[in-house]
Amino acid sequence: MRLLAIASLFALVLSSGAQAAGGGDTARKHPEPQSWTFTGPFGTFDRQQLQRGYQVYKEVCAACHGMKLLSFRNLAQPGGPEFSAAQAKALAAGVQVAALNDAGEPIERPGTVADRFPSPYPNEKAARAANNNALPPDLSVIVKARAHGIEGEGPDYLYWLLVGYSDPPPGETVLEGLYYNPYFEGHQIAMPPPLATDGQVTWPEGNPPATKQQMAKDVVAFLTWASEPHMEDRKAMGVKVFLFLVFLCVLLYFAYKRQWKDVDH
Ligand code: HEC
Repeated sequence: MRLLAIASLFALVLSSGAQAAGGGDTARKHPEPQSWTFTGPFGTFDRQQLQRGYQVYKEVCAACHGMKLLSFRNLAQPGGPEFSAAQAKALAAGVQVAALNDAGEPIERPGTVADRFPSPYPNEKAARAANNNALPPDLSVIVKARAHGIEGEGPDYLYWLLVGYSDPPPGETVLEGLYYNPYFEGHQIAMPPPLATDGQVTWPEGNPPATKQQMAKDVVAFLTWASEPHMEDRKAMGVKVFLFLVFLCVLLYFAYKRQWKDVDH
């Protein structure tokens, strides 16, 4: 009986292996790791990069994706892009947000720093109608959602998703209204390549050229900060706790030596 169970388990493992190999065609391509300033125990964000990334989000991605967990005031808080308070105010004022007037009718007004980032569609139905029935997800915590608990995995995936569009290989046909992207599960994505040409955004003087790769890296850095706005604090605390523990170990070692110094072994 037990032998039978083991045999059937073995068969199951074999068949699932075969299935995985067979379905390997449309399994997503593994994103090659990129170097990021924010990974590792001492990782920090590059302020300029986050500012550029916000601009890419606002000028490109915000047409289809909201970030409803972020307020404009977060753009000025420590540990983030650290725009000045006046800049955050101006950025908010440059965006129209939905509100109600005194009579309770829906209107649009310029944003304030207390406003959340607006969503581009009034509801899911409208969002799907505009996107071939696919739903552009809210990007507030997308990096965490795609990280599978591994630091760097979410950013690497997003980067390759943005720059990895290509023509389909022979034998794979792409359905109408979808685009070929080997990094996306199933290889067919309803998002048109959002970063299609170099120089799509214009950054202030002193920033690197806005190549597709640079724009992708910067928007991913921005989205990583948005997923965990207090990451720098958390890492700084981790380092402090570690140093404290090392110090405590040394102290305890000498205390132990002193305590036992007169005892013969
Ligand atoms: C024209 C609309 C449009 C624009 C512009 C756009 N997206 Fe998308 N995006 C979509 C749609 C639609 C989906 C859902 C795709 C699907 O499910 O097939 C999507 C999905 C995604 C996903 C989720 C992928 C996954 O693993 O599920 C990410 C991440 C994303 N977009 C990031 C971005 C970023 C970053 C930008 C700006 C550089 C951007 N998008 C610009 C329409 C858009």
